[in-house]
Amino acid sequence: MKHNNSRRDFIRTGVTFGLGLPILWSNLSSCDSKPKDNTSNNAKPKSLDILILGGTSFLGLHQVAYALDRGHKVSIFTRGKTKPSLFKDKFKQVEQLIGDRNDNLTALENRSWDVVIDNSGHNAEWTKQSAKLLKVNCDLYLYTSSTGVYYPYLGSDIKEDTELVLNMPEGITDRYETIEYEYGIMKANSEREAINQFGADRTIIVRPTYMFGPADKTNRFIHWPIRLSKGGEVLVPGKENDRVQYIDVRDVAEWMIRLLEDKNAGTFNAVGPKGDQTIYEFVEEAQQAFTADNTFIKVDDYEFLMQHDIYGIVPWILPTGNNSGSAKINNEKGLANGLQLRPLVESIKDTYNWWTSDAVPQSQRDMVELDPNAILVREDTILKSWKTLTEA
Ligand SMILES: NC(=O)c1ccc[n+]([C@@H]2O[C@H](COP(=O)([O-])OP(=O)(O)OC[C@H]3O[C@@H](n4cnc5c(N)ncnc54)[C@H](OP(=O)(O)O)[C@@H]3O)[C@@H](O)[C@H]2O)c1
Repeated sequence: MKHNNSRRDFIRTGVTFGLGLPILWSNLSSCDSKPKDNTSNNAKPKSLDILILGGTSFLGLHQVAYALDRGHKVSIFTRGKTKPSLFKDKFKQVEQLIGDRNDNLTALENRSWDVVIDNSGHNAEWTKQSAKLLKVNCDLYLYTSSTGVYYPYLGSDIKEDTELVLNMPEGITDRYETIEYEYGIMKANSEREAINQFGADRTIIVRPTYMFGPADKTNRFIHWPIRLSKGGEVLVPGKENDRVQYIDVRDVAEWMIRLLEDKNAGTFNAVGPKGDQTIYEFVEEAQQAFTADNTFIKVDDYEFLMQHDIYGIVPWILPTGNNSGSAKINNEKGLANGLQLRPLVESIKDTYNWWTSDAVPQSQRDMVELDPNAILVREDTILKSWKTLTEA
């Protein structure tokens, strides 16, 4: 997998890992719930039997770790192909069920759990089939969706009750747009299938924006911890009002478990930071994780960025056209319902420490740090061009 800088790589990574991000219109999120205070956060919760469809790649690892720490029992259902890269000791306490969401749910038959988390839902039919099977013997279904359901991101304050696109509009020919639509439509229909089976009062839909943190395989966000740790002249893309949104994977995972403990049915955006943040503010804050001396070179010409194949350095996404509102997702409902966001500096430090640890294969690091297409590698050349242009 390549570092996700070019438009081509951006598309591929989005599709593989679920961040295409995009959206459309339905009434799915009518399952509002009342805001709850966060008193359950530190109190010992009632022990739950939790089934995770998935659990071994990224988000799932943190759900498993937190759930076990909270005294819950965890079963996971996977094909057995993806092995946990973190928390290997904890996984000894986890029941591992093997099957395939494509055609083999046998391991889930005649079993009961208190709650189900559906992380591996990449097909509305998969969600329909698993929810149909489990609704009799499980109380609650949590579907891991995405802010991608909001594509095209045309609003300036996108809330959970936004009408979602459920069918491919006619006349879409651009490949990038097609992929964005397909992902959002798939997630939106999957949400609907979960609600159809379990009912709105027994379904939790969580829509994360770009997640980052330990075990992230997308190689998207890691650019910043690596780059800011080094110092020197740093290319910062975007104009001064370009907003960014992102979330630490652990904040999502932990909040999901607490939502289940609270039986807090409803639809929630999982988006940070708490308030508005521009890309320039983001780099200023994030660099505090390191002692390196960084000089930020603000490259605020979209044409120039596109000419150099820079359409996004997550969390910054070129905010034009259908992406104009991709970092304008409202998080008030989540925050009012127990979403907690750890400090950015802590997230950046932990992500950097993970990246430089044994948990990451050298081959993965090489892909990001040595790939000739990576901005880390191209940055010097691009900045030279930028200076030639702006100092002429
Ligand atoms: N990354 C982001 O920034 C982001 C943002 C918004 C939303 N999301 C969504 O977050 C969710 C979580 O993704 P994650 O990868 O971190 O979750 P995860 O639960 O950590 O890992 C995905 C799991 O799916 C299993 N799996 C894949 N294909 C399967 C199949 N055919 N049958 C059964 N199990 C299968 C994998 O195990 P095996 O390979 O062993 O089967 C793996 O355990 C996804 O739905 C994604 O769309 C991600």
